[in-house]
Formats: sequence, structure tokens, C-alpha cells
Amino acid sequence: MCGIVGYTGNKAAVPVLVNGLKRLEYRGYDSAGLAIDTPTGILVEKAKGKVSELTKLLAEHQEDSPIHKSQAGIAHTRWATHGPPTTENAHPHASSRIALVHNGIIENYKSLKGKLEAQGYNFLSQTDTEVLALLVDSHYDGDLFQALSSALKEVEGTFGVACMAKDEPGVLIVARRGSPIVLGVGENETIVASDASAIIKHTRQAIYLDDNDIAKIKGGDIDIRSLDAGVVSREASEIDWSPDAAEKGGYEHYMLKEIFEQPDAIKNTIRGRMDAERGTSMLGGLGLTPREIVDIQRLVIVGCGTSLNAGMVGEFATEDFAGLAAEVEQAAEFRYRNPIINSKDLVLAISQSGETADTLAAVREATEKGALVAGLVNVVGSTIARETGRGVYLHAGPEISVASTKAFTCQVATLLMVALKFARSRRMSVEQGRRFVQEIESLPGLVKQVLAKDKQIAEVAARYVQYERMFFIGRGYLYPVAMEGALKLKEISYIHAEAYHAAELKHGPIALLEDTMPVVALALEGPGKEKTIGNIKECSARNARVLGIITEGDEEAKSEVDDYIEIPACRLHAAVIPATVALQLFSYHVARLRGCPIDQPRNLAKSVTVE
Ligand code: G6P
Repeated sequence: MCGIVGYTGNKAAVPVLVNGLKRLEYRGYDSAGLAIDTPTGILVEKAKGKVSELTKLLAEHQEDSPIHKSQAGIAHTRWATHGPPTTENAHPHASSRIALVHNGIIENYKSLKGKLEAQGYNFLSQTDTEVLALLVDSHYDGDLFQALSSALKEVEGTFGVACMAKDEPGVLIVARRGSPIVLGVGENETIVASDASAIIKHTRQAIYLDDNDIAKIKGGDIDIRSLDAGVVSREASEIDWSPDAAEKGGYEHYMLKEIFEQPDAIKNTIRGRMDAERGTSMLGGLGLTPREIVDIQRLVIVGCGTSLNAGMVGEFATEDFAGLAAEVEQAAEFRYRNPIINSKDLVLAISQSGETADTLAAVREATEKGALVAGLVNVVGSTIARETGRGVYLHAGPEISVASTKAFTCQVATLLMVALKFARSRRMSVEQGRRFVQEIESLPGLVKQVLAKDKQIAEVAARYVQYERMFFIGRGYLYPVAMEGALKLKEISYIHAEAYHAAELKHGPIALLEDTMPVVALALEGPGKEKTIGNIKECSARNARVLGIITEGDEEAKSEVDDYIEIPACRLHAAVIPATVALQLFSYHVARLRGCPIDQPRNLAKSVTVE
């Protein structure tokens, strides 16, 4: 969840580290810090708050001071797990001899701390990371690689870690278990990071460490070993997106940029995967033979947050069109619930980052139980993509804003392609398949039509800025849209937004309705619309203001609501995407008018790598 950057090479380290931290700030932003190798020892600077607070501290050092001249260092931006966001708890954590930054959780930190205290170590913070730092110090006798290896053998939990020692100038030691570490390979230099966006400015050559890898790096020399075995070989691969993709490109926020990127992102998701003639999709990455596709008896979809909401659309479409039993499961519960899974099940793990701890745990549980397991992932080379070994990449490009937008619509587009694949191998005719292909191919255009209404949606949003609570309701395919709409609004505007199936409203939530509680109702043309219109009437009768997400030109729906946003006419499984885009823009404008920090909402992190 936090961000790690490290540098060793022939350039000044501080600008590389600070630039990397800014790139990673979306991962966590309650404090930041760095440790720099200088001739007189390791210099640590850290600050509560955003990276800009740290840069203020760095500016206090003269330009020609050792900190600015140094060519090696490590840095970190934190999302608090153990201990509140204070300067003391910020990383790096250090002894007089070593400094260390860490992502993940050291589960046995209490017992290790007791042991270290008995040896005379004093602790300045409440973090599990300081325990790891001092544990490394306790093993240190001039060889940091050995000290970290020995320390990690005592550790239970997860880590992505980078450290350095005062007596080994220019050397970084890094290791991973459960939290990603990627090495950017440059000429006589290496940039270490917890994700590729921090290295792309310097090099596109990336080596992704595997779990239990530990590496010693000095300049361009990289020596990777396994904590359990000896030397291991890890090939570099090329990062397939450009540095520009990770910039704001003139937009006020990454979120807005990513909302507007959706027509192209969806095009990239479906490119080369549609077979218009045979009316089906081509998903070679799933690695399933036609026989295996027919033999699969159930699709089980797991994910968290926005990915879970997308999964629900996949469940509905798979049952609806393929007649294949499908269910969506919260990844966090999957392994604790002891689910019934067998070799005829295909478990599809959905994750933008490919690093979410709960989703990864579900992947491992499903693999253990003998299911076929595939990933539906955006970040190439991420842990879930590698562990599943089969799946579909979204190709949505980097998503920087914490609130997920383009990943959701590309996930839904992919799930529709998966449903089509299963449908054509079961009960769908070629004619119906061709229509479905056309619908998928029309999605970028439908999204464009919604984006063209941005100004009008901003005007509607202005009428909802003052409310502190809001309901979202929908039925069928529009229920996950209500879920995702409410999630977007609460994440970025801090309005208490909850989604209910429109029929559930009467079973309790309706008690909360009054004029201070508006309702966003998804009432598009299609099955269930008339019933939702009935629910809208019930809301209006309780003085709730109603914003309808309705089909273009639907005069009946217009007459029932106070405000509306129109969506181009299409069948509901396709309408999920443009309707969600409308709600993304609605949430964005409400949050913007409320003056919220849209790209970095409080308490959230882009990638949740702890359970
Ligand atoms: C975090 C993010 C969400 C995201 C969820 C799952 O909570 O803030 O935007 O939907 O994790 O992330 P994943 O990378 O697995 O899709």
C-alpha cells in the first residue's frame, strides 16, 4: 500500500527518489521520508503529510551539501498500518548503522520487539517496520545482505523491503514476500520501486522480483538470490506504456483524465479479441481448450472494491447469456469461508493492481483446491497475473487516481467478452453472438456520448453538493452500477452514500428517506424499469430529491424525477458501462465542488496489500 523507491548509480539520488515518491504518492500519503548515503553516514529526513512536506525539508539543505550530491538512497511514502501517521512512525527506520523502508506487515513484530528490547534496543516509533530495521541491525556484522537474509528468516508476514548500511556505500539490499519490488535496469544505475510508475521516467527495462527473492544492488550490478535457495535468474521485461501515460496531460486531476481515457482504454481492452464473423471473443490468455470451456461447470469470480462490483456484472452476464452457473465472492471471505470448489470450476480473480492481498489469498486457496484459476488484471507482471499464469490483461494503461474508473469499465468489457465466449460454446447462436460482438464494439462510442455531457452533468452535480447522505438504487445489471456509483461518491466526496437493490429499499432503508436524503435511481429502459419507476414514486412521496439515470428521450422517466442524466439507448448489460461513466462524472464534480482532494482521498490507498 505504501510506496518504496531506491536509487544507486552515477546520478544525484535525491531528485530520482523525490520524483519516484511523487509518482507513488497515490499508494499512500500520510507521511514520507528518505535515507541518503553520505560520506559521514546515513542521513534520514522524514515528514508527516505529503511528499511536498518532505521536499520543503530537503530544500533547507544547501544545494552542494552531501545529501544533494549523494548517488544512493532509499525513500518511502506511507499508508499507516501500525501506529498513527506521525513523523516518528514515517519510514525510513534506522539504527546508527543501517536504514530500512518496508511495505507489508510483520505479523510477529511483538515477540521480535520483546527479544530486541531484551538485547538493549530502544524503539522510537510504534511501527512493525522499526522492529524489522533493528532486527537487521542485530544481525549486522559488516554484510547487509547476510543480515537482511537472517532477519527475514525470523519474520512472519509480508514484506517488500529496501535497506542500506553506513559501511557499504552505494549498496542497496532489497527483498520481497507478498509486497512487490521491481528493479528498473539503467546504464550503470538501478532504480528500485514498489511499482513501475516510479521507474518509467528512467528506464523501461524492469525486473520483477518473485516472492522470497533478495537482491544486492550497486550501480548497474544486480545479484538476485532466493531466501530459500541460491542464485536465481530473473529476466528483464519491457514496460509497455510510456511515461506520458502516467502524467496528468492537462487535466486538473488524474481521475478526470482517466474518466476521459475510457473510450481508448476500452478499445485497447477489446482490440484483437473480437471475432465478428464467428460472433465470439478470442481470449487466448485464458489458455482453455474448447473442450475445457465446455467442461467448466461454474464460474466463480473474486475481487475487492470496484473489482468486486465489476465481478457482479460478470456473474449476471454469464448466467444470462451462457446459462453457466456463476457467482461472485468477496475475496476477503473466500479462504476463511472454506468454499466448495473443484476442478470443474473456473475461478476468475479480478484486480486492477494484481497485488490486492485478499484477492491473492483467494487465488492461492482456489489453486490449492484444484480449480482452474485465471486473472483479470491490469498491471502487467503483477503477482496475481504471474501466480495465475493464465488470464486476460485489461490493457487499460496505468490508473493513478485512487478511485478506480477506467479499470472498472475495462473489467466489465472483459467480463462481457468472457460471458460471450462461454455463451457461444453453450446456447448462444452465431447470430446472437454477432449482435453481442457489435454491442461490445459499440461501447467506446457510447462512452464518448456520455463524456460529451460533462458540462451538463457538472450542472446537475452542483444541485447535490450540499447533501451529506445519499442513496443509489438499481435492479438487475443496474444494481452493480448503483454499488459502484455509491462507492465512487463516498470515496472522493465523503458524502455517506449507500447502494441498495431498488426492491430492498422498502425493507428498511426507506425509513431514512426525507428531504435531506436524495436518491440516485438507475431507471434505464429494459427489464425492471417500470418497477424502479414505482420505487422512484415512493422516494418522491417521502420528499427525497431524485436524480434519474435514464434512457435518452424517455419522457415518462423524465416526468418522475427532479433531475436526470440521459444515457444512449442500449441493452442493459452494455448500458452498465455508459451509466457508470455518468456516475463517475457526477461524483467527480460533486467532490470537486466540495473542494475534496480527489486523487488522494483521506485514509484510502490505491493498492491494498495487507489483509
Ligand atoms: C482499493 C482501491 C480500490 C480498488 C480495490 C481493489 O480499495 O482503493 O479502488 O477497487 O482496492 O483493488 P484491485 O487493484 O485489486 O482492483
